Amino acid sequence: MTVQERLIRPRSRTHFIAQALAAAPGTSVTIMGWVATKSSIGGIKFATIRDGSGYIQIACKKDRVSPASFADFEAVTKESAVAVEGVIREDKRAPGGREISVTGFWTISLAEDWPITRSAVKSHSSFLYDKRHLAIRGRKASAVIRIRSEIVYAAFDHFVKNGFTLISAPSIVQNAVEGGSTLFEINYFGKKAYLSQSAQLYEEAALAALGKVFIFQPAFRAEKSKTSKHLTEFWMIEAEQAFANQNDNLSLQENLVKSMAERVLANRLEDLKILGRSFKFPEVPFPRITYDEAREISIKKGIPFEWGEDLPTEGERLISKEFEVPFFITGYPLTARSFYHMTEEINDKVTKSADLIAPEGYGEIATGGQRIHDYTQLMERIQKQELPTESFEWYLELRKYGMPEHSGFGIGAERTTRWMCGLKHIRATSLFPRTINRVSP
Ligand code: 4AD
Ligand code: MG
Repeated sequence: MTVQERLIRPRSRTHFIAQALAAAPGTSVTIMGWVATKSSIGGIKFATIRDGSGYIQIACKKDRVSPASFADFEAVTKESAVAVEGVIREDKRAPGGREISVTGFWTISLAEDWPITRSAVKSHSSFLYDKRHLAIRGRKASAVIRIRSEIVYAAFDHFVKNGFTLISAPSIVQNAVEGGSTLFEINYFGKKAYLSQSAQLYEEAALAALGKVFIFQPAFRAEKSKTSKHLTEFWMIEAEQAFANQNDNLSLQENLVKSMAERVLANRLEDLKILGRSFKFPEVPFPRITYDEAREISIKKGIPFEWGEDLPTEGERLISKEFEVPFFITGYPLTARSFYHMTEEINDKVTKSADLIAPEGYGEIATGGQRIHDYTQLMERIQKQELPTESFEWYLELRKYGMPEHSGFGIGAERTTRWMCGLKHIRATSLFPRTINRVSP
């Protein structure tokens, strides 16, 4: 590059900000990023630059840079994309203890006036979500997305290390896995089809080919409830193992959640700090209470419900507030569960299933159980519940060709993120949340 050209454009990036913050004082760096803040003290102009890996303060003195660089720095606006060349300097007052003493500054894309202002946010309650495409650049919003990424990565790592194979399954389906009430119907070339609520049935087919499988893909629920834990589209991590009973299933779940917590605490402590969040480390085994015990607690707390019904959301929240770490509620009644659940040998009203409940009031993050593997039993169950036998033909047929005892679960990526991040509402865990009254941006 000629000297002339160097004045017009920067070198290519040498460091991400996280690397620049770790570099020795005196290191020359070129970073690329966005202007988070701008200020000036005396004759020195400051800015904070972010690039997704971190934030770094930069300081620009008029006599250290070309006139063009200085003019760019003076004119640059919040959220403009920029390139910065400079030298790392130790500075105790700077966040992260390092700053870049600027030797070159280039505005790559100048931003218009940033619309997300305090008064705009206050003016209407949905503003931040109407502007979600911009709001995700905020410190807290992006911290949550990074933590979610870590949680999902931890799951992949955990499953692969334990011999599970990653699979994919269709999102356009004909079966209700979790009952018909929350199905999104679509017109599939003139025929009725639905958006998948869960990949579980496909996992059960795959396990006879692969032994242990896991999947990470969107699930759709036409949830009419406006609660702080319901999305209409969310991402589920599901796993299913052959030759495994419900006890094996519980230990797989608790070890998975422990791995997730380990990874988040090892790699995303800074992001948790940004959110002002800490949580008690979930050691295994997790506590277990029965559905009957959970019901008693709920009744005592003033939320009564009939034996056989699902736990009311408020009851679940109050029980969850009694715990500091995730815990299982075991032995749900069959009447509160989907058709595929296996029941206890000693009591056919109780299923071999459990919900995994996050503590501090966050509530259910996973549901799992042992499935009926016997053809006749499953056929009887489908008929008893008056489900359309035709659409379960292939699922039933699996039971004709060597189907062993098997179990699995589904854990919501956003529910888990909400708990670990300590967020009021689940929508903050989704890049572009879908709820009963939001399908955009
Ligand atoms: O409890 P669910 O409905 O269980 C199943 O779908 C099973 N077939 C999974 C399996 O065994 N393979 O959903 C599993 C998890 C819930 O515990 C929750 O974390 C999440 O998926 N989930 C939701 N997350 C956000 N919004 C919703 N509307 C959700 N519905 C379920
Ligand atoms: Mg559930």
